[in-house]
Amino acid sequence: MEHLQFRRNRRLRNSNTLRSMVRETTLQKEDFIYPIFVVEGKNVKNEVTSMPGVFQFSLDRLESELEEVTSLGIPSVIFFGVPQQKDSVGSGAYDNHGIVQEAIRLTKKHFPQLVVIADTCLCEYTDHGHCGVVSGEKVLNDPSLDLLARTAVSQAQAGADIIAPSNMMDGFVIAIRHALDEAGFHDIPIMSYAVKYASAYYGPFRDAADSTPQFGDRKTYQMDPANRIEAMREAESDVLEGADFLIIKPALSYLDIIRDVKNSFPMPIVAYNVSGEYAMVKAASQNGWVDEKSVVLETLTSMKRAGADIIMTYHAKDAARWLEEK
Ligand code: PBG
Ligand code: ZN
Repeated sequence: MEHLQFRRNRRLRNSNTLRSMVRETTLQKEDFIYPIFVVEGKNVKNEVTSMPGVFQFSLDRLESELEEVTSLGIPSVIFFGVPQQKDSVGSGAYDNHGIVQEAIRLTKKHFPQLVVIADTCLCEYTDHGHCGVVSGEKVLNDPSLDLLARTAVSQAQAGADIIAPSNMMDGFVIAIRHALDEAGFHDIPIMSYAVKYASAYYGPFRDAADSTPQFGDRKTYQMDPANRIEAMREAESDVLEGADFLIIKPALSYLDIIRDVKNSFPMPIVAYNVSGEYAMVKAASQNGWVDEKSVVLETLTSMKRAGADIIMTYHAKDAARWLEEK
């Protein structure tokens, strides 16, 4: 005869206090990195249509945003630059007085304790919108590495605390590590976008950063969403090349990948809760179809449960406020 067992798993859920004692995952404001879009020009604070609550800031309007971020106890921001001029080689990315370099200088001057991360890529600065230099319709790998390395060094010179290269060219971590070391920045960590999928969830970001590819797509450098084993190869390459943190991007549809990478590499793992994930939650909550606060906190908790140590999220300010209320 079959031996069946009756278990009372509900015992541990009997009170709020007990539930909090057995809770396996906690979310805290220290987990967050807040993404900020900086634009050239004066007196600009433009809401991104597809990302309610997220703005592009000109430098003269940036300080009050940073004031809010720091007063909420969020430890870190990552800057994305939107330049006025673009060209075929993305000169604005490695201009010592480029928009991100100036944003970093300003931030470190007024908020020296804030950990400033520079996104290192070319797509916001190239007129064709690709993350590297192109020849015809081909995105070239090795010639892009030099430009990325120059970008990283100029960001470090401006005062960036962490370099976060996102362009998915092969060898970008080692190229940047060598360039940083040569320039004397041995102590600047690399937070690598190690596992980055060619995702439709980046749509709203490309509106915000004006970085939509003008031809083709990013599938020759970003990963196929169907692939799991390949994520291990990508993560391993970046570890061997000297990455200090590994980013998985997007997050919500890739929780399995976050767990795989966490189990295989003894590194701080970062989940990027991307623009499309933010936009979906915002749209549904503005319609009254879901409760924003509960959905956001549940979603961010799931990323930590999956294995993320740190979360880059546009919800950071709201989430920090909600966590404070509890
Ligand atoms: C490209 C880059 C992307 C994002 C940040 N940097 C993706 C892309 O356009 O391919 C997306 C972030 C988001 O969607 O929030 N270097
Ligand atoms: Zn890019």
